[in-house]
Amino acid sequence: MKLFKLFSVFIVTLTLISCSSDGNGNEGYSDVYNLPVIPYNYSNPNFPHTFTSYVYGFDNTPSNNTLTDNIVTLGRVLFYDKKMSINNTVSCASCHKQELGFSDDTPKSIGFDGDHTFRNSMGFANVGFYGAENFFWDHSAATLEEQVLIPIQDEVEMGMTLHELVEKIGALEYYSPLFENAFGDTQVTNNRISKALSQFIRSIYSYNTKYDEGIEITNDIFVYFPNFTAEENLGKDIFNGKLTPEAIGTCITCHLPNNVPLHFDQPIPDNANQVIFSGAEEDNVGLDIDINVEDNGVGVILGVTSLYGHFKTPSLRNIELTGPYMHDGRLATLEKVVEHYSTGVLAHPYLSAHMKNGNGDPRHLDLTPEESAALVAFLKTLTDYDLISDEKFSDPFID
Ligand code: HEC
Ligand code: HEC
Repeated sequence: MKLFKLFSVFIVTLTLISCSSDGNGNEGYSDVYNLPVIPYNYSNPNFPHTFTSYVYGFDNTPSNNTLTDNIVTLGRVLFYDKKMSINNTVSCASCHKQELGFSDDTPKSIGFDGDHTFRNSMGFANVGFYGAENFFWDHSAATLEEQVLIPIQDEVEMGMTLHELVEKIGALEYYSPLFENAFGDTQVTNNRISKALSQFIRSIYSYNTKYDEGIEITNDIFVYFPNFTAEENLGKDIFNGKLTPEAIGTCITCHLPNNVPLHFDQPIPDNANQVIFSGAEEDNVGLDIDINVEDNGVGVILGVTSLYGHFKTPSLRNIELTGPYMHDGRLATLEKVVEHYSTGVLAHPYLSAHMKNGNGDPRHLDLTPEESAALVAFLKTLTDYDLISDEKFSDPFID
């Protein structure tokens, strides 16, 4: 009897030791989610040297929320959990699908109650390198930590209050080991949920595209990439403004190297690399003729009329997968987007300077059919097939 007792203590102790040491939150919940015994490596990605050497030191990760593998793991589970919505029907991933570059394939996504979102869902990759005050199409969220709590409370998207969220997540037992591993105890707070979700999103780095390979080989975005077809190289030249020497208004001016505050009259730095293909600025690319539209973007948020019709310059990473395009998803294909820049730019009163000719008219690139096709072919070199099939960013739930 005594021996038996001792033996049970031994077993219990062993179990406790194994629980706390495997560090993945799986114990007892392997019927709920499938997580590896040792958490995936998120915090120490294997960037190619060209990738980090051109980030210009910019990283929006706050010092109190640097990535740890256990916090990202918690964020991954939250991201895929439909319990995050009021009626358990919608998770973040419902509108941000991994196989679509974390975007959605419909102009407006469907929220928990069947209603449509106001704007087109946005894909993400390399979000840690986005400029500050730079989230959402209208730049209305200043930080990612603030941004990730907004869809949860949105009346179309997930329909919760933060109070309900904390109660609900706190009552789900399978979160206890995940919070414990992530933060040292099982307490659920808004702040911890925000940290975990934003860490998961920041952990989604993209650096394995045909384009990244080209930079790795040449170390220079402006030269011929030997791993590209002739067509893709032509598209790259058009994108980077090589065919229009003044470089004003070609794609790189706005979808520019990282967050370098480029102005169209300044040269592109020699060591430029498009880690995010998005500038820190917002722009009006002449989609509408005037301000009598439902959505005027940044101008409305800031109360600045001259910014009406201005929207975030979105990242072009995985752009092949994130259609339909533009803030309202009005353009179904990349061919339509190129057609817009080639012949479709409208004379909006607040059209961005980068979209105008010297005489102030909307600038049309007037590309030939071959050049248009080449530009589309170039945009498709930005697809990261490893990322969209990487298990560590996939749905961990068993059902
Ligand atoms: C019902 C669909 C839907 C759900 C659910 C949803 N989103 Fe979104 N998400 C969108 C839409 C639409 C936008 C663009 C909104 C805008 O700019 O007005 C967006 C934008 C974003 C952005 C901004 C990206 C950028 O480049 O600025 C991030 C990050 C994001 N969502 C993360 C999340 C997270 C985290 C969750 C879960 C907590 C979530 N989303 C839930 C549809 C959704
Ligand atoms: C004046 C700055 C500017 C220039 C120049 C520019 N873009 Fe854009 N681009 C933007 C902005 C801003 C948006 C979002 C517009 C909106 O939705 O209202 C955008 C949207 C896009 C989108 C859709 C992204 C998405 O997620 O829906 C693609 C693709 C794109 N641009 C490619 C290009 C290409 C190719 C060129 C060169 C021919 C180019 N851009 C030139 C600023 C610019």
